[in-house]
Amino acid sequence: MSLDDRLHEELAEIANAGLTRRRRVQTSPCGRLAVVDGRELLNFASNDYLGLAGDAEIAAALADGAGQWGAGSGASHLVSGHLAPHAALETEIAAFTGFSRALTFSTGYLANLAVTPTLAGRGAAVFADKLNHASLIDAMQLAKANGAEVQRYPHNDLAALERQLAASPAASKLIVTDAVFSMDGDLAPLPQLLQLAERFDAWLVIDDAHGFGVLGAQGRGSLAHFGLPASPRILLMGTLGKAAGVGGAFVAGSATAIEYLLQKGRSYIFTTAAPPAIACALSRSLQIIAGGDGLRAALFANIARLRDGSSGLPWRLLPSATAIQPLIVGDNAAAVGLSTALWERGLWVPAIRPPTVPAGTARLRLSISAAHTADDIDRLLAALKELA
Ligand SMILES: Cc1ncc(COP(=O)(O)O)c(C=O)c1O
Repeated sequence: MSLDDRLHEELAEIANAGLTRRRRVQTSPCGRLAVVDGRELLNFASNDYLGLAGDAEIAAALADGAGQWGAGSGASHLVSGHLAPHAALETEIAAFTGFSRALTFSTGYLANLAVTPTLAGRGAAVFADKLNHASLIDAMQLAKANGAEVQRYPHNDLAALERQLAASPAASKLIVTDAVFSMDGDLAPLPQLLQLAERFDAWLVIDDAHGFGVLGAQGRGSLAHFGLPASPRILLMGTLGKAAGVGGAFVAGSATAIEYLLQKGRSYIFTTAAPPAIACALSRSLQIIAGGDGLRAALFANIARLRDGSSGLPWRLLPSATAIQPLIVGDNAAAVGLSTALWERGLWVPAIRPPTVPAGTARLRLSISAAHTADDIDRLLAALKELA
């Protein structure tokens, strides 16, 4: 069998299991409405929680930034690609999150790959929530390849984590968790995780991809939501392509930890710095997030409207208080069928299937935005009721 035939066979297996993924080409900018194949759909499929992806001021900052700083950075940060807009953005993020220092990355995936494997090598142990995002899982695998011991604890199970920490002889320990779980929308118990980190002298690595911009005073994120101050034992990762509406990510922490990542984080060092215009756009986005209480109020009103209106549906909404509202369908084909039926009614709601979520928990991931109107939420609820 040729190499190509082998791949073909595997692709056929994926198709037979009903797990083939397809991309849809949008011919409109990311926003409340999406145009696909000439049809206009209500978009419940993006992570644009504050509706900033299409914000005219941020787009203008991007264009002005490109006018002033050109298209590309030209090199990695440590060679010559670290330009004034990157440096300014780092300072602004550190001030906004309350940490001593921050580093920016081109994507959240790269940011996560920089943290865990850099802090955890031989002699270290990593303790990771079972429902962590794929990028944290890959980071954990890299730490394992570096010689770290890795353990996963059942989702948000503090007692199990405590037992694992107590039993570990490792000299250096890292607890790694999503702050808002990306497919369930629930929150990690950050205050209790921080207490455990303090008790066992561990680092606490927090991925706030879905909390940053959305939760806490001024959208400062999940730590602010819990009233937790920036602690030197926390490394906070936030993505900038979701609520912030642009792209990229940051890691914030103590000055020493950030300097260590800068010196040793391979996915920081060995990649070209993002275009400086992206940093210009993000500086504007941060200002809008900080002054965005109205946007967050609109988002949370939409979330409440959806949850209040969903009683009586045959499918269960998971108990999420965030912009991610998962509707559990169970069966893969049924989830895809429901997503397709909504699509036919002009509503874009993605079905999420294994391996992204555990087998038997295929779901619709309803992603709510400040850009949605009350009528949009009612249209979604009406279509779900009709299909029930
Ligand atoms: C929890 C979480 N962490 C990290 C990422 C990766 O971020 P990025 O898309 O910027 O690579 C995502 C989503 O993409 C995510 O949901």
